[in-house]
Amino acid sequence: MIRVLIADESHQVTDNISRRLALEEDLEVCGTASDGESAVQEALWLKPDIAIIDAGLPGMDGGQTTEMLVQALPGTGVIMMSMEAENDAYRLAMLAGAREFLQKPFKGDDLVAAVRRVHAFEQRRGGSSPAPAVAVAATSAPGDPSSAAASAPAVSRRGVVTAVISGKGGVGKTVIAINIAAALAEKHPGAVVLVDLSLQYGDVGAALDLPTDHSITDLLAENGTADSDMVRQVLVNGPGFQVLLAPTSPELADYVSSAHLTDLITTLRSDFDFIIVDTPSYLNEVSIHTLELADHLVMVTDLSVTGIKNARLTRGVLETLEVDPAKVMVIGNHRDGVGGLDRRGAETFLGAHISVEVPFAADVVATSVNKGVPFVVSSPAAPASSAVRTIVAAIDPLSRNGSEPAPNGDSSDKKKRTRRKLSFTR
Ligand SMILES: Nc1ncnc2c1ncn2[C@@H]1O[C@H](COP(=O)(O)OP(=O)(O)O)[C@@H](O)[C@H]1O
Ligand SMILES: [Mg+2]
Repeated sequence: MIRVLIADESHQVTDNISRRLALEEDLEVCGTASDGESAVQEALWLKPDIAIIDAGLPGMDGGQTTEMLVQALPGTGVIMMSMEAENDAYRLAMLAGAREFLQKPFKGDDLVAAVRRVHAFEQRRGGSSPAPAVAVAATSAPGDPSSAAASAPAVSRRGVVTAVISGKGGVGKTVIAINIAAALAEKHPGAVVLVDLSLQYGDVGAALDLPTDHSITDLLAENGTADSDMVRQVLVNGPGFQVLLAPTSPELADYVSSAHLTDLITTLRSDFDFIIVDTPSYLNEVSIHTLELADHLVMVTDLSVTGIKNARLTRGVLETLEVDPAKVMVIGNHRDGVGGLDRRGAETFLGAHISVEVPFAADVVATSVNKGVPFVVSSPAAPASSAVRTIVAAIDPLSRNGSEPAPNGDSSDKKKRTRRKLSFTR
């Protein structure tokens, strides 16, 4: 059975297409959506074989929706349909990663033929591809050699993984990840590592002015087994903490798989107390797997309308992946001095509580980046540094009010209360 998802703003269109496809024995409509965001959410949930996407979807348009689907669900073939004149719309569809283009109005037979063609193509591609198609299902299936490797070493230490995420680039994710690592390292020298998983355009190295002789790419040669000694050799000394840099060239990013990531994180957990991960702003197999592996997710957004819209979309993805909301903390970063929504407006639109606001601090941030020194170190008294320490307090009991953690049950109750206060309101 070929399972099809249909997304069009008009219910009449989705109904007509559903009725036509229902006439075919081998086709089944598994879901419909009327805007881009819900199309992505439905698709992540349903994992259809084929998604028929209208180019003019409201909110996130058909092109953006297609791009997200292609990255997050490589096994789903996208057919784009449009009212637009053929040339431009066709070009856009193909650039976004669609496999077929249908100009509206089209004949039912042409649609059915396109669905079967794209499905046959995806099956051939899937059959010849060595990698598992979809991240979510592929993460740690029992019997999967990668998960066996991951659980092999008997480790006493289990470091906490904090992933810094966002729905959009340029919101301050890297700046915040670096400063979280630095603030933790002040309390825990030698126990913190920062991993730049923004694999295509990672800029942790540039922001900290680090030498780029080694990167995550050095670990790939050994077929995904990254033991402590190997990892130690490719880590670079940062200001108070260790850094695993992103590949020096964007095309090398694709070689890092979720099996590599599982293996790497397992090794790092046994060698460090805190693993901070800077992530890319797009969804793919590796970034989705990061969301699943992390103990804490620090979701950074600016307060612009598009920033909050993308943060809301990311929230939807987290819900679909059934990520525990208590793991997620939303940070509103004022990376612009002017404009944007106020906190209340942003929270209403986002449907979530903003736990910490990081103030606009152009001079502090610029000086820090120019010197390659995190601002929590170079300007510890700045309000932006206090904001970062508030974030860190949610991750690390030792950093709370600078005091030692309270003993036993007391500490876990306190931890629960803090987590509740700092995470999504439900
Ligand atoms: N609170 C802030 N105040 C002033 N500038 C900021 C702030 N946060 C981030 N920036 C600036 O915004 C830009 C984007 O930050 P970056 O961390 O690289 O974003 P991302 O990793 O999300 O793409 C950088 O030039 C950074 O210096
Ligand atoms: Mg970045």
